[in-house]
Amino acid sequence: MKPGPSSLALTFDHPGLARAIEELALISEAPAPAVTRVLFSDTDLRGRAYVRAQAAAAGLTVREDAVGNIFARWEGSEPALPAVATGSHTDAIPNAGRFDGVVGVLGGLAALGALRRSGFQPRRSLEAVMFTAEEPTRFGLGCVGSRLLAGALSLEKARALRDREGRSLDELRAAAGCTGPLESVRLAPGCYHSFVELHIEQGPLLEQEGIPIGLVEAIAGPSAYRVSLRGEGGHAGAVLMPVRHDASLAAAEIALAVERGAKGSGSPDTVGTTGVWRIEPGAINSVPFFAQIEIDLRDTRLDARDRALAEIRRTAEDAGRRRGVKVEMAEINADPPAAGDPATIAIAEQVCAELGVPCRRMVSRAYHDSLFMARVCPTTMIFIPCRNGWSHRPEEFAEAAHIATGVEVLARTLARLAG
Ligand code: GLV
Ligand code: MN
Ligand code: MN
Repeated sequence: MKPGPSSLALTFDHPGLARAIEELALISEAPAPAVTRVLFSDTDLRGRAYVRAQAAAAGLTVREDAVGNIFARWEGSEPALPAVATGSHTDAIPNAGRFDGVVGVLGGLAALGALRRSGFQPRRSLEAVMFTAEEPTRFGLGCVGSRLLAGALSLEKARALRDREGRSLDELRAAAGCTGPLESVRLAPGCYHSFVELHIEQGPLLEQEGIPIGLVEAIAGPSAYRVSLRGEGGHAGAVLMPVRHDASLAAAEIALAVERGAKGSGSPDTVGTTGVWRIEPGAINSVPFFAQIEIDLRDTRLDARDRALAEIRRTAEDAGRRRGVKVEMAEINADPPAAGDPATIAIAEQVCAELGVPCRRMVSRAYHDSLFMARVCPTTMIFIPCRNGWSHRPEEFAEAAHIATGVEVLARTLARLAG
């Protein structure tokens, strides 16, 4: 009988992984402990170079596609078979922490490193992937790399992406040295057998329950909207209140409807956030003539998300009419939720049982590249606890022991999948 994955003698370089997380964290636009690495910024490019060097040092063959997704491959004994993959992202939103995404990229490389040192010979090839721009900071759209890999973003929409300075994806990727045609990014059908992403939970449940591993059964469906509001400006002292058309106040009403709609959707999992605000002219003594807000709205249940959206749209129309402000609401993305693959989850569960590591199944409210990899091949995620559930802030923290457990469960799950 084939030995279970827990019978593989694996040695992990835990100090090496901790050092790599520390070194990558120092490649940041924000001073430590904060981390900021925005797609194709100087720090993102240095972070990518760091990941490529780590992958090469682990003896993996590195390639990069036309949008900058990085693939580090260990050829299996039957290379024609669909490969088993892991990975995550290393871009970081402004003022973020050091673990989001990074644990999955550097932890994925550490898992492959441990398997290689053990003398394990995979039948299927194994790959660690670093996805381009999981975070939406540059273009307002998350998971640009994995969307393109999965064919979930049309080339037309990808080419139309612009950052706040008006720079296009094509312009930025060319400047970063990613010169191939965008159409070459989409994965060939059947190229992956399965995908497993290691990530911090970004929520409090594992820590509260004292469980070191979460296995993801569903990822909430994210959606995002950009609302542009045009009113009328003027002197803050001179324009009397009854005749004002203040664009920022209509935006404020819509932001309150985001909260109201999410709370009243009928689902405890609906979350709505208005995290981007732009006000023109942005002067204390001038009535705002223009406002633009960006809304993030999510749930695992689309009916609940739709009810919240209906409340937001109703308010946008009503506030615009009452205030004499022209309101335009554009959808940035509205993605369905993804389901974790039951067979892959069962394998990871079996690995945890063999290691004597408690685990539980759970939902991811944050989105991940797995949302799109789930369209490519059977997918799940391995979550580890993070302090107080904090994420997207400098205090984000995952204990070394939890990272070590996550990497070991990942390595043994990958070994089982790769055969
Ligand atoms: C990813 O970072 C998300 O916003 O869920
Ligand atoms: Mn994130
Ligand atoms: Mn992440």
